[in-house]
Order: sequence, then structure tokens, then C-alpha cells
Amino acid sequence: MGAMPEEIEPLLEKIDDICLTEYGANRYYIGTYAGKEVVVAYSKIGKVFASLTAAMLLEKFGCDTLLFSGVAGAIREDLHIGDLIMAESLCQHDLDITAFGHPYGYVPEGKVYVPTDEKLRALARQVAREKGIELKEGIIATGDQFIADPERKAWIAETFNAAALEMEGAAVAVVCDALEVPFFVLRAISDSADMEAGFDFDAFLHKSARISADFILEMVRRL
Ligand code: ADE
Repeated sequence: MGAMPEEIEPLLEKIDDICLTEYGANRYYIGTYAGKEVVVAYSKIGKVFASLTAAMLLEKFGCDTLLFSGVAGAIREDLHIGDLIMAESLCQHDLDITAFGHPYGYVPEGKVYVPTDEKLRALARQVAREKGIELKEGIIATGDQFIADPERKAWIAETFNAAALEMEGAAVAVVCDALEVPFFVLRAISDSADMEAGFDFDAFLHKSARISADFILEMVRRL
């Protein structure tokens, strides 16, 4: 799954026997890769569309594993454009009922941090080792905002100890966690969520999305 056409196009290029299904104002591409049946979809940007697509992939298409591929804005200093980061857990930086004494990112019966599947993380580490690719790990913060603001970025970093930020991962995490389906979120850095973020995002979206997609395909081979 990706959130933008640019995030799934490098996946679709490698998928065989593609059959397109339209459902719920979205397109799902069913096909095969490395002898496995796969469904590729882009949700459109943001948590609501991502939740819808993730739920459909699991409930309508019966996916038993969900891998998300895309780009992110860097928070941590060691993350540079093109670097890969896998989420160890994800949180929603724009979820706020602190007026009722709750921490940021929390609603009753929810979790601030939703961890990704440990076995998929181990598989990703193995792929990185064998292919000689540097793969970083950390908390990814999600919100319905494109962050191009050093102050907001610093607040997200401090409040959630987040390494990177994007706009869909935690939504996918909440859906997969609730439905008890293993999931994994990988992002390649497209910008640094600062004043240049809009420019950098446009400049590096394609290249970084492909870096992430190629890694995800290598994981699918080994599933
Ligand atoms: N995805 C990639 N860069 C981003 C940014 N700066 N803010 C939100 N989502 C992003």
C-alpha cells in the first residue's frame, strides 16, 4: 500500500498478471509477484483515506499481511534524503484531547504508540544486511498536515520522540492492530519537514518512493 500514485507505480511495474478492481472510489491492483498473490493500492493522502484502504485490503481483499511503502519527512539528524527508515511504532501527532487530561496522541481504549510486526522488522533487517543497504529504525509520527515548519517539527520530535513524520502510517497501524493483521511501514526520506520541505518533496518524491518500493519488493520475495 502507498498513499500516492508515485508511491505505488514502482511496485506496479514489477507485478505480473495485474487485474484491476474498483471499489469505494479507489483502485486495487491484484496480481502476482515472486509467486505470491499481492494486492497493490494507493489510498490518497491522509489518515482517513489510509484507514479506508487498509480496512478494505484486509476485509474485502483478505490480505494476511500489509506492507506500506512511501516517503517521509526527516526529524532525526541522521536521516538524509533517500535514507530508509522502518517504523518500530507509529503515533498520531495531531490527535489531541489533552483538555481532558490525556496525553497527546491518546484516546480512551487506544494506544499512543502502535508497534509494527516484529517478524517483519526482523525480515527487513535481514534484507538490509544481505543487500548492504542502510536501514534505520525509529518512531514515525503521522498527522493530517504536511509539515514545513521547524517549530512544529521540533514539537513533534520532543512530544513523541519521533524520528520521521508522514501522513498515513499510524492510520494503517490502528486498523491492522485492531484487526490483528501483521503490518510494516517503510519510508524513504523526501525532505526534512523544514522551510524547504515543499520544494524538496517535489524534487525527491519519485526517487525516494522508488527506493522504498524496491526494498518492499525484496521483502515480499522472502515472505
Ligand atoms: N511526507 C513526506 N514529507 C512530509 C512532510 N514534510 N510532512 C508530512 N508528510 C510528509
